Amino acid sequence: MITLHKIDQLRRQVALWRQAGQRIALVPTMGNLHTGHLRLVDRARQLADRVIATIFVNPLQFGQGEDFESYPRTLEDDSQKLEEYATDLLFAPAVSEVYQRPQTEQTIVRVPGLSDILCGQFRPGHFAGVATVVCKLFNMAQPDVAVFGEKDYQQLMVIRRMVEDLQIPVQIEGMATVREADGLAMSSRNGYLTVEERAKAPVVYQVLTQTAEALQAGDQDFKSLEESAWNSLENAGLRPDYFQIRRAQDLQSPDKEEKDLVILAAAYLGAARLIDNKTVTNR
Ligand code: PAF
Repeated sequence: MITLHKIDQLRRQVALWRQAGQRIALVPTMGNLHTGHLRLVDRARQLADRVIATIFVNPLQFGQGEDFESYPRTLEDDSQKLEEYATDLLFAPAVSEVYQRPQTEQTIVRVPGLSDILCGQFRPGHFAGVATVVCKLFNMAQPDVAVFGEKDYQQLMVIRRMVEDLQIPVQIEGMATVREADGLAMSSRNGYLTVEERAKAPVVYQVLTQTAEALQAGDQDFKSLEESAWNSLENAGLRPDYFQIRRAQDLQSPDKEEKDLVILAAAYLGAARLIDNKTVTNR
């Protein structure tokens, strides 16, 4: 595996692969890799001749008081895992390589509407940070395809919309959430949980599953389903930001007749902000 830190080196390598007619897949990450990330790499490998993984803890997507400083940085370990998963290239730039200007003078990619609801409401500027860095990474690596996890459902929608609006020639591939045996969605932030909190954490997926079952059984009282889920999370000791049933296609509030739904949850458990979702199709 080649490891590069500079954009011009990355561009030179990508140009060589392109000259050889090879298809390139990109897996953007912030590192501290777990099995969920490695599945993205596996999928990327199926879709292209060359796989580039990026590790970059992006300051632009963290708000004030969030965990940018403490976010786990485990480059050596990550590098070993990527090598084992036959990644061709690891691109791990410094912040100064990606952002040449102070944050207030940066050109920002903003996806209006979609970025302002759900997680965007609680983390103002977060999705502009994500869209900006992903757009930059696409410009640097010029991939044919990029693979993202569906755990970050809203993020995936923001990225798809950005690619469509800016006509970026890249195929976006979503991958099903990878879960621990007890249902907890894998996330780098799970490492913030204490032993007691870790034992409680699967409640998020349990409540999503119960709500999905109620919807599938024909319950259409979305508000009362959301309220009861919220109470279950609070009773288990979590502090929910939101628990919402939305239209899967655009995250707007659904009508009763809506067939394709997604249930989305975000809740704090100690220092960890857990997010998860479950899609429901009623036919
Ligand atoms: O999902 C993540 O890890 C990050 O938001 C991403 C897409 C790598 C952008 O920094």
